Amino acid sequence: MRILITGGNGQLGNQWVNYLNKQGVEFISLPSSDLDITDHEDVRRVLNNLKPNHIINCAAYTNVDNAETEKEKAFAVNAYGVKNLADYCASKGIKLVHFSTDYVFSGTEEDHVENPKGYTEHHPTNPVNVYGESKLAGEKAILESDCNYLIIRISWLCGKYGQNFVKTMLRLASERDELSVVNDQYGCPTFAENVVKNTWELSVQNISGIYHLSSLGKITWFDFAKEIFTQSGSEVNLEPVDSSEFPTKAKRPAFSLLNTQKIANIPNISLINWKEGLKNMLAELES
Ligand SMILES: NC(=O)c1ccc[n+]([C@@H]2O[C@H](COP(=O)([O-])OP(=O)(O)OC[C@H]3O[C@@H](n4cnc5c(N)ncnc54)[C@H](OP(=O)(O)O)[C@@H]3O)[C@@H](O)[C@H]2O)c1
Repeated sequence: MRILITGGNGQLGNQWVNYLNKQGVEFISLPSSDLDITDHEDVRRVLNNLKPNHIINCAAYTNVDNAETEKEKAFAVNAYGVKNLADYCASKGIKLVHFSTDYVFSGTEEDHVENPKGYTEHHPTNPVNVYGESKLAGEKAILESDCNYLIIRISWLCGKYGQNFVKTMLRLASERDELSVVNDQYGCPTFAENVVKNTWELSVQNISGIYHLSSLGKITWFDFAKEIFTQSGSEVNLEPVDSSEFPTKAKRPAFSLLNTQKIANIPNISLINWKEGLKNMLAELES
């Protein structure tokens, strides 16, 4: 495989670099400064030059709140940029591995009641914010391009690199004695190390299609914060609050659990309980 990682300087991109290095697998990883996926000509020039046969796209616009006021920017990367990659992959027979999000679903209370084990891959999409709309447009561009694709939808991504909820909680614990965290949004964290490991397994098995991947369990952000403080030995007074007490620019789904049964049925896939994933991540942060 001639592997190219796009968006290689982000949270997931860095995790890929770390993982493939450890596996002794050769690859090229490009930061946005070396490949801007929104630039059609840049994409053609760089890919013609590198001739990959397997692209792992970690490039994305991920600021959920800012997307509300930067709709064009979000769509440029998450929809148009992804279309650039997908069309090129289709024309050259390249496999495209792409990451999407739980935010393609509406996350209503009704959906929660009807799908207590989470959204399956074929559940109708209906995003409630611009970020989710732009990611869904990217998925559609891939499907329309007719390329060989693997789309992995993940939720609440956390890992050693970049910014995420676990790292924010650890920082706040060192700065404050009291914290309020929302207790009415349900989902499950996905740990970057586990994403990379399982996605690599699907790549090696040459599996295509759309898959949901997260840890096992269903929790709120409050539950998550509580466990982060327990496992890290931080002493913080934690207060559960409703989302209405934390108004954000972008609406958040009240329910965004992904059903992982489809991916769990594949041999050699290892899904872990979210508490175990957190334990692994905290150990990774210390290493
Ligand atoms: N974070 C989450 O909670 C979450 C949840 C569900 C799904 N996901 C999905 O998981 C994937 C990885 O997310 P992440 O957390 O690793 O994101 P991230 O840390 O924000 O990294 C995104 C990367 O994309 C790069 N990028 C932005 N615009 C680009 C462009 N025009 N051309 C090339 N690269 C560009 C960024 O580079 P610069 O820094 O140089 O701009 C950055 O390295 C994304 O598809 C995201 O939508 C994330």
